[in-house]
Amino acid sequence: MDDKVIIFDTTLRDGEQSPGATMNTAEKLRIASKLEELGVDVIEAGFPASSPGDFDAVRQISDMIKNSSVCGLARALPGDIKTCADSIKSAKHPRIHTFVSTSEIHLKYQMKKSQAEVIEIAREAVRLSRSLCEDVEFSAMDASRTDPDYLCRVFEVAIEAGARTLNIPDTVGYAIPDEFGALVSYVLNNTKNIDKAIVSVHCHNDLGLGTANTLAAIRAGARQAEVAINGIGERAGNTSLEEIVMALKTRNDLLKVDTRIDTTKIYPISRLVSMITGIQVQPNKAIVGANAFSHESGIHQDGVLKNPTTYEIMKPETIGLHSSKLVLGKHSGKHAIRNYLVDMGYNLSDDEIQSVFEKFKNLADRKKDITDEDLEALVNEGVLRSSDLFALEYIHISSGTTVDPLAHVKMLINGRSTEESSTGNGPIDAAYQAIAKLTRTSATLLRFSISALTGGTDAQGEVTVRLKEDGLVALGRGSDMDIITASAKAYINGLNRLEYLKANPPSTPETM
Ligand code: KIV
Ligand code: ZN
Repeated sequence: MDDKVIIFDTTLRDGEQSPGATMNTAEKLRIASKLEELGVDVIEAGFPASSPGDFDAVRQISDMIKNSSVCGLARALPGDIKTCADSIKSAKHPRIHTFVSTSEIHLKYQMKKSQAEVIEIAREAVRLSRSLCEDVEFSAMDASRTDPDYLCRVFEVAIEAGARTLNIPDTVGYAIPDEFGALVSYVLNNTKNIDKAIVSVHCHNDLGLGTANTLAAIRAGARQAEVAINGIGERAGNTSLEEIVMALKTRNDLLKVDTRIDTTKIYPISRLVSMITGIQVQPNKAIVGANAFSHESGIHQDGVLKNPTTYEIMKPETIGLHSSKLVLGKHSGKHAIRNYLVDMGYNLSDDEIQSVFEKFKNLADRKKDITDEDLEALVNEGVLRSSDLFALEYIHISSGTTVDPLAHVKMLINGRSTEESSTGNGPIDAAYQAIAKLTRTSATLLRFSISALTGGTDAQGEVTVRLKEDGLVALGRGSDMDIITASAKAYINGLNRLEYLKANPPSTPETM
């Protein structure tokens, strides 16, 4: 049996289905290029029939990526499949991923189709896909709640029609590891022509079992894992790429299969995805969380100092985590910043470096030591996140124990400078009211959170907001040494994202 597991990354497709995580095309291109450098075998770049924006992003990713396969998702419908084929036609290694539900629950309540009808839909979808693209993947949606014999029958038909990869999704995150491993074994032992295809799994994390189920499936013989960076995705998310890759690497003694991933690129891409989507990684998240390699207890610290293997099963460098946080200061030059950014995984253009450098100088005037996190925040503000329509020029606040909070905000709106003042219940409320007047937004603030990027009283504050307007939800993120400014930046960033969504409405196509 092949000792490599194919890593199929769906950060740009299922990952983008995380509430508020919409990415624009430039952001998707940046992530796709990092996924290629990471060594991902297949990049699921989007769902081309879902919107013109998605189509265009998949097309541009197809033009750019050379070493990974580029895959588009399509419902088992001729229109979706043709649109998908069109969007990936320039890819060096294109793949169509078509799917239809197979569980009794979905057939009865959602699709209102019989099992025999669904078999014919699957056959025709794969046949058409195969006439347009050599590499076809077929997914039986809600496979973990599908009758296993029927699942094998559908897969047999899909292979006859030309599918090379058969995916068993645990769509609703319902499976338990032993049971899911047994299902994979059953499919491998009871689908007649299964030797002509690779078995894949796609696990959701509703019960927190995505990684465990995927590993159980791999132990049972699955050779493609569908994953997302930081585990983002619909609802509780997908199995996380970093957990699967590091489990296979760290426990190769037991699992005996590996991947082609360059693990030293894991941490930088995790940060990049978090920066771009605005979805923070929980501190205790395995592999990439801020606490994943920090030892708090005295006994553990003592052991690690004597020999790291006492309490560390992975070396931080293996995932690309700098063990020492190099500190930059006001005398650091552009060259040092560029080198440092490359080290962190950011290959920026000259213009982008210039923009980060100017922001760096500004910050270095106010803050003595600039750390990785500070630099990342500058990249985030200066380069990664677009702020087309609204930009903050300045903000002045008066606030304290004996004055009513008052904010004066000056903004560039569509290139035109305009200003407004407002009072509020506190300085942030006053700033937000002034920004709301200037932008005429009716967005509601669903969530506001603030944290310090580093230690020390001169740390930059990082603010994340979640906004809702006309049924659209967007996340915004901002950082600054002044927490009111960071709050204003996050709000404006979220408003820009809402504008992007209004211009490129996400569509959520029905199954059939
Ligand atoms: O969760 C799921 O079933 C999916 C399919 C489209 C593969 O995302
Ligand atoms: Zn999914």
